[in-house]
Amino acid sequence: MPAIVVVGGQWGDEGKGRIVDLLSRDAAVVARFNGGDNAGHTVINELGEFALHLVPAGIFYPQTLCVIGNGVVVNPKVLLGELDLLAARGVDISRVAVSDRAHLVMPYHLEIERLEEEAQGTAAIGTTRRGIGPCYADKAARLGIRMGDLLDPEGFTTRLKFVIEYKNRVLERVYGARPLDWQAVADEYLRYGERLRPFIRDTSLIVARALDQGDLVLLEGAQGTLLDLDYGTYPYVTSSSTGAGGACLGVGIGPTRITHTLGVFKAYVTRVGGGPMPTELTDEVGQLLRERAREYGATTGRPRRCGWFDAVLARFSARVNDLTSIAITRLDILDAFDRIRVCVAYQTDGVVLDEFPTSAARLAAAKPVYEELPGWLTDTSGVRRFEDLPPNAQRYVRRLEELIGRPVSLVSVGPERNQVIPLRPIP
Ligand code: IMO
Ligand code: MG
Repeated sequence: MPAIVVVGGQWGDEGKGRIVDLLSRDAAVVARFNGGDNAGHTVINELGEFALHLVPAGIFYPQTLCVIGNGVVVNPKVLLGELDLLAARGVDISRVAVSDRAHLVMPYHLEIERLEEEAQGTAAIGTTRRGIGPCYADKAARLGIRMGDLLDPEGFTTRLKFVIEYKNRVLERVYGARPLDWQAVADEYLRYGERLRPFIRDTSLIVARALDQGDLVLLEGAQGTLLDLDYGTYPYVTSSSTGAGGACLGVGIGPTRITHTLGVFKAYVTRVGGGPMPTELTDEVGQLLRERAREYGATTGRPRRCGWFDAVLARFSARVNDLTSIAITRLDILDAFDRIRVCVAYQTDGVVLDEFPTSAARLAAAKPVYEELPGWLTDTSGVRRFEDLPPNAQRYVRRLEELIGRPVSLVSVGPERNQVIPLRPIP
């Protein structure tokens, strides 16, 4: 019966992986519904530390079926590498299924993205260069090739030859780049197809059956609401629907199946890549946040931009996802600050905005209006009950809850499975 969606509330890297890992203990199915290997979901458990890019973070429990849904774009080489790595570390990968409708990230997607980003210079998006945008563009342009196509070598080869001839014209005539050899690409991808054959399924059936049986299904989002193609800080966004609505499309269920939408927020904010970020701290406070939290990308290794919690953005996220409740991660990072700021509104040209603006240019011009709260200067990493948190930390959590207007279900104070403070049950 219940499907719970876990979405990022900010610009990605909120700790969705660690939350999904936690909730997966009781799940029958854990399904990724959007994005591709641009995601980097870190999970730490008794087997060690894992940075997952395509496989759902539920893979570490023995009972979960882990689905890579139709809304995900899959680079088969990366998926096979990830599966091999997991298997080598003792994880049972036979429970992974990938949708036959999922689109394939092809070599020309990577090449075209690199050329586009370089051509845009300072206007570049700062993508993860995993070919994600060009792959979704081809899906919409009806030039895509899907996972299921790999199961029909002849049909796949005919389709690929047609698409590559077109892509080569773009590569050569627009960018003066070298064309791709379609035969080499076909051989490479058909080899991946042979290895992936046992994993390729109509995954919408797996999800529907689990729901019909009354089992718990977790839908794992990648990226965050402010990177959503429609609701993010366009054009500085990713190319998929990162929010709760994307979950329905991305695994093939109706919206009424979803009983709980959990938004994950860091206790501060980070962003990787270009685009406006009103609370960004370019001073030593931002530096301290980055170093304490080791805020470097799990996918690209880039330093993340860090800043104070932005409640305007968070309220917007709560609304467009209709969040049922929220999880606050990395509260312990704030243990070292004696004053903590929270952005409660924006100001542009003397006008106060308390709703998140649509245009990236307007957001870039917005100055944060801060409220200052006292810090707690106490190590919270060992705390397991809300009432054992220092009073100022409790006040901070309660204030965020009030500003966002949604209840907090849990707070995390470290990356280990047990470093969690539950407040309310989910669902
Ligand atoms: P997880 O799932 C943070 C950012 C990139 C860039 C923009 C577009 O780990 O939260 P893309 O390669 O998707 O076309 O890049 O989106 N981005 C992420 N930032 N976390 C992620 O994923 C991200 N995936 C993409 O840095 O700004
Ligand atoms: Mg990440």
